[in-house]
Amino acid sequence: MDKLCITGGQPLKGTITISGAKNAALPLMCAAILAPGTLTLTRVPDLRDVASLRGVLGALGVTTDYDPASKKMVLDAATISSTVAPYELVRKMRASVLVLGPLAARMGEARVSLPGGCAIGARPVDLHLEGLKQLGAEIDIDEGYIVAKAPQGLKGNDVHFAKVSVGATENLLMAATLAKGTTVLHNAAREPEIIDLGNCLIAMGAKISGLGTARIVIEGVTELKAAHHSVIGDRIEAGTFAIAAAMTDGDVLLDGANIDHLTALVHPLHLAGVDMIAENGSAIRVRRARKTLRGVDVMTEPYPGFPTDMQAQLMALLTVAEGAGMVSETVFENRFMHVPELIRMGANITVHGHSALVRGVKRLKGAHVMATDLRASVSLVLAGLVAEGETQVHRIYHLERGYEDIVGKLGGVGAHLRRTTDDDA
Ligand code: UD1
Repeated sequence: MDKLCITGGQPLKGTITISGAKNAALPLMCAAILAPGTLTLTRVPDLRDVASLRGVLGALGVTTDYDPASKKMVLDAATISSTVAPYELVRKMRASVLVLGPLAARMGEARVSLPGGCAIGARPVDLHLEGLKQLGAEIDIDEGYIVAKAPQGLKGNDVHFAKVSVGATENLLMAATLAKGTTVLHNAAREPEIIDLGNCLIAMGAKISGLGTARIVIEGVTELKAAHHSVIGDRIEAGTFAIAAAMTDGDVLLDGANIDHLTALVHPLHLAGVDMIAENGSAIRVRRARKTLRGVDVMTEPYPGFPTDMQAQLMALLTVAEGAGMVSETVFENRFMHVPELIRMGANITVHGHSALVRGVKRLKGAHVMATDLRASVSLVLAGLVAEGETQVHRIYHLERGYEDIVGKLGGVGAHLRRTTDDDA
């Protein structure tokens, strides 16, 4: 296992190129299952999660040719040779459950392992299953597998989600494209990644309206066809590097980032004393507007609210801001695993239920810390960038699930960090 060694204190300066969004690329890859033609995706990030999903798709008979240099992936689902997504592959990544809707829609059957437990809470899939039942699928759980059957095909219907879920919205959006008749998704998630998925499905021949709203209407078609699609920029990666620039008192241009997807971050960062300004339509410049950072309060919510995937990073910023800030997590339970690690670096944080009170300290000190999940681990990297001395972040495979070439990207704007083998892990 590898670790990341970071020597803090360097202000980040320069340009960082933002990769394609992981959370858009994964559902887009699953959409390939729906059509017998090829789906060509560009700007697909070279990430461990993408590799895991290629494994799942491969088990179904979908070929995925990927060129990490050009970031182009050609997916060919001419023949689906199996409708089983096995446990060994699905357990590596929860998003694998997104093959369920497309398989049920195109093949009339699917057997997909339940994703199982997850470090950031129970994360059930009940909303995905309830939705598919509404479209006429018969759903059973058998030996840890979800078994979906719809031998006569899925039928359009009204689906009311009891809770806003990104994954359930995506699964149902894909499934409904091939259902007979009209499906209306109520209380749908509104994330830019869902709009991106919808746009790709439309390019494949799907009939969809209401993307980006809580009511999405899908008119089923009998077949989808080949298409080309470019993945949107990763707003979470961009937001993470924006916070890195702010914490280190740097000046960074995030090339390929869309500020419209980051409004929920722009406001709290502005209050904290940081400017995020759109440049040339497809870049964002980030630097401090004031000498010192100030504490702010944020609460995570579904889009367009403050993203839960930015919570740990904002908390890292608050640890070195003047005054206090409150971070409330409403999307996931148990998503404060970075807190004890940040405390090891000298942060002053008190957790009360779903809220964490962060009182800023003058400086953090480098320490050995343990990555627990994707966003938690990047918050430790951010803290390491401003800590005195060396921080060693262990178990960085979590980072590689979602951050493409983080060492190269941060090193390219002046951070002192290196990756080495971790003999102690
Ligand atoms: C997606 C993102 C993840 C992000 C999350 C919330 C991907 C690949 N992952 O995850 O990075 O943190 O959205 O923005 O896009 N829930 C249920 N029943 C369900 C489904 C979800 O109760 O059937 C709950 C979850 O436990 C959670 C909440 O709903 O509390 C939101 O989860 P959801 O939006 O589904 O997250 P994911 O799609 O898994």
